[in-house]
Amino acid sequence: GNKRLQAKLVLLGDMGTGKTSLVLRFVKGQFSEYQESTIGAAFFTQVLSLNEATVKFDIWDTAGQERYHSLAPMYYRGAAAAIVVYDITSMESFGRAKKWVQQVQRHANPSLIMFLVANKADLETDRKVANEEGEEYAKENGLSFLETSAKTAQNVNELFYEIGMELKEI
Ligand code: GTP
Repeated sequence: GNKRLQAKLVLLGDMGTGKTSLVLRFVKGQFSEYQESTIGAAFFTQVLSLNEATVKFDIWDTAGQERYHSLAPMYYRGAAAAIVVYDITSMESFGRAKKWVQQVQRHANPSLIMFLVANKADLETDRKVANEEGEEYAKENGLSFLETSAKTAQNVNELFYEIGMELKEI
């Protein structure tokens, strides 16, 4: 029969890295150059059809601003999947992403599926973080890795599809 799954998914990462933009690209197929900064967190749902299964994602898009960091555990607690996002044009955001990875690995559910996502791949001329740096960090820490662009839609559906496929296997 057709397997129906429901999964809590959380996005974490520095402010301005494109968390909301990735979700809106996936959920609505839209992108805005003027996306407003998230306050607290935002909630979205989206159903994804896979072979012989559907996954309903309950998506918590957290705010990257420092003042909201203490709220993050509420959102990653009980999550089946986490997407930690950095911006390829900001080395600082890559450093911040590593801190989120460590925090989630220490506190979240051990079977959690985590993706490290290098967003804004369309801004190649402003790149500060080499593809290999993200890829190696992900490999060393047992994460999956993708470079995305919410603007061009590069790898965005692939990201959620890969998470759905991994959830289906559990
Ligand atoms: P907080 O809510 O503050 O944590 O930010 P966020 O991580 O949700 O980032 P948001 O989606 O609000 O995007 C921040 C800015 O980056 C906006 O101006 C977006 O238009 C822009 N942006 C997001 N993704 C991309 C991308 O892939 N490429 C480019 N060029 N700009 C992007």
